[in-house]
Amino acid sequence: MSRKIHIYGNWKMNQLTDDIYNFFDEMADDSLAELKCQGGIAPQFPHLSLVKEKAMPVGIKTGAQNCSHKTSGAFTGDTSPEVLKDLDLDFVIIGHSERRTVFGESNQLINEKTLLALELGLEVVFCIGETLAEREADKTFDVLRTQLDEGLKGVPASKHGDIIIAYEPVWAIGTGVVATPEQAQDAHAFIREHLSNNHGFNRKELIIQYGGSVKPDNAMGLLSLPDIDGALVGGASLKPGDFYELLRIGSELTP
Ligand code: PGA
Repeated sequence: MSRKIHIYGNWKMNQLTDDIYNFFDEMADDSLAELKCQGGIAPQFPHLSLVKEKAMPVGIKTGAQNCSHKTSGAFTGDTSPEVLKDLDLDFVIIGHSERRTVFGESNQLINEKTLLALELGLEVVFCIGETLAEREADKTFDVLRTQLDEGLKGVPASKHGDIIIAYEPVWAIGTGVVATPEQAQDAHAFIREHLSNNHGFNRKELIIQYGGSVKPDNAMGLLSLPDIDGALVGGASLKPGDFYELLRIGSELTP
């Protein structure tokens, strides 16, 4: 594989300030800056600057877990992607299944957020994935196709390199049930095929992360598959030892 492995931690609504200091203290290791894979961390909004200050010196990117579909105005409680850019952040996660299900975000809203974040110069980690019911009804590829077609509508080719796809089967998120290597590889191959054939993405350069109960003990099996180029990690990314180990495995697999 010629692509660089990308291991991003999605901290969700976890971590207090002290936890973040402890996390980076425990991660501190001279070899961190020499790791070859690309790491990333998405904390809660108020902690973005602190994480960036700690993560940037060791080459780890910092990003937000969500953003608004507008740049400014009367949107109480929302955070503008323009502010993320202003804080010099690297990426934003858009369309996570928790945003889709808990907060009712539609493909159309996700599309608006994606277009705006890309236009402002942020990298977008674009999440898709089927529920258990959809998988059992044999609708996985239909769901992924719709999420890709509607969510990435209108993205200019010049921005393709700023998109990372995160395939996260909803039934594998936070459940401890990880997709089998075959299920993950099939979905990733489908996504790569679809985006290169129908959206003009460069199949060799497109980064597709797998997400859903990734841990150090299953990461090697997943990340060595031909179409898996990284991981979006929830629970295990909160533990500095586990996150470091994931970065180490990703580096081992990065050419
Ligand atoms: P998990 O979460 O690793 O805890 O399953 C992954 C995610 O939601 O991004």
